[in-house]
Amino acid sequence: MRKKIIAGNWKMYCGDPAKAAALAKGVIESCACQNRVEVAVCPPATALAAVVETCRGSSVRVGAQNLYPKDEGAFTGEISAAFIKALGGSLAILGHSERRTYFKEADDFINLKVKAALAHGLTPILCVGETEKEREDGVTEKVVETQLRGGLAGLSADEIGQIVIAYEPVWAIGTGKNATPADAQAVHAFIRKLLGSLASADVAELIRIQYGGSMKPENAAELLAQQDIDGGLIGGASLKAESFAAIIQAAL
Ligand code: PGA
Repeated sequence: MRKKIIAGNWKMYCGDPAKAAALAKGVIESCACQNRVEVAVCPPATALAAVVETCRGSSVRVGAQNLYPKDEGAFTGEISAAFIKALGGSLAILGHSERRTYFKEADDFINLKVKAALAHGLTPILCVGETEKEREDGVTEKVVETQLRGGLAGLSADEIGQIVIAYEPVWAIGTGKNATPADAQAVHAFIRKLLGSLASADVAELIRIQYGGSMKPENAAELLAQQDIDGGLIGGASLKAESFAAIIQAAL
């Protein structure tokens, strides 16, 4: 039985440490006394320390939204997996479509990030997903397969087993337009089957695949009830403790 994982991607919001700590406190209070669902929040880097401090002693995990795949060096403006780990972070969102689009991140670069995260004991949340045009063109599976093969290249089955995959159709992110539960389930099942061949049947059975893209209290229960949907990566609805808590509730 896979434990569902609900993670908040705060994006470039709530970067003020005091505001971020307050939101984290709200999340802790509203999801208290349950350990049936794994809960994580990923604030901007400027608020990572404050949120780690706030979440200390709670079951809420804290992660980064990106990292640079070297431990240290002359890479102005970048943050390494080692730094995130030292701050107390335990996961990292990698290959988000906004990073692929605006920062031109390609699969081989994302693969290095996944490896760096694993090397430092961070759980990578590897994001994959097709654009609207790609869905219309009927190449969703092909796109997702390329992203997965690229992002997971060179990893052992054991390493793949430590990763969380987030299927996030690009056209659903921040648009209010979510994939239907059936459409999402179909892609999740495809991803799980592919993981079976990239790793092993056992790993594929174990690995958690989140859905992301306009998940909110109104649609979460139906999405999370699908056989291969093991959680959510939540943007907009994670910025208010009440709506994030309602999604956690839907996962219970
Ligand atoms: P959204 O974002 O929930 O606001 O659509 C999801 C994401 O980008 O991870």
